[in-house]
Amino acid sequence: MSFVKVENITFRFAKGLPAVIDELSFTMVQGEIVGILGPSGSGKSTLLRLLAGLEIPERGEITIDGRLIVDERTFVEPEQRCVGMVFQDYALFPNMTVAQNIMFGLHKLNRSLRQEKMEQMLELLHMTDYAKRYPHELSGGQQQRVALARALAPQPSILLMDEPFSSLDANLKATIRSELRHILQKTNITCLLVSHDPADIDAICDRVLKVSARH
Ligand SMILES: Nc1ncnc2c1ncn2[C@@H]1O[C@H](COP(=O)(O)OP(=O)(O)OP(=O)(O)O)[C@@H](O)[C@H]1O
Ligand SMILES: [Mg+2]
Repeated sequence: MSFVKVENITFRFAKGLPAVIDELSFTMVQGEIVGILGPSGSGKSTLLRLLAGLEIPERGEITIDGRLIVDERTFVEPEQRCVGMVFQDYALFPNMTVAQNIMFGLHKLNRSLRQEKMEQMLELLHMTDYAKRYPHELSGGQQQRVALARALAPQPSILLMDEPFSSLDANLKATIRSELRHILQKTNITCLLVSHDPADIDAICDRVLKVSARH
């Protein structure tokens, strides 16, 4: 039984422009970790944004965990989708500390659980000493790790990651990759990961979805 089902999705940014995504279909089983590989401009980020509900397809439908989230008549709002997303540019809240950024998605938990979860995430991503810092006081790789921690903390049913390791040095990348794979497997989170680095995909993913340039 498919956990994620994408059927004949077509998307273009404006009428008259070529389709960025043209009749794309694929399925994922629960807990599967799928890599997305494709040239720059081929629509990888757009695909993640469609799943997250940040863009609306022109046609086609998406089902997550048996629930229809988008078709011609249906649109489930992003915050109702149980989707976690790590953006290509990290997109942390600049006016919040690292700890506050991570706790942002945990408003349903009580204060002590929220604190505990945040500390767990900081530990997992080797960021314990940075809890009180603001994003502008962090390096690119540190911001990337906070973005990962923030997306993982609420235990989304599906995690979408857009180049989540691009700013990490080789050592840190190897560590975070293997820890991430471990935590995804342990929590049975279904995950789509975009990367330009086939080694990332080899290290974490169960299989690859290739998207090709359309123009
Ligand atoms: N807001 C926008 N308006 C019009 N065209 C856009 C917009 N955002 C992206 N595009 C175009 O849509 C195509 C797909 O963009 P997308 O960001 O999904 O590519 P990508 O595969 O993630 O590329 P990269 O590997 O460089 O991140 C590109 O040709 C891009 O120029
Ligand atoms: Mg992109």
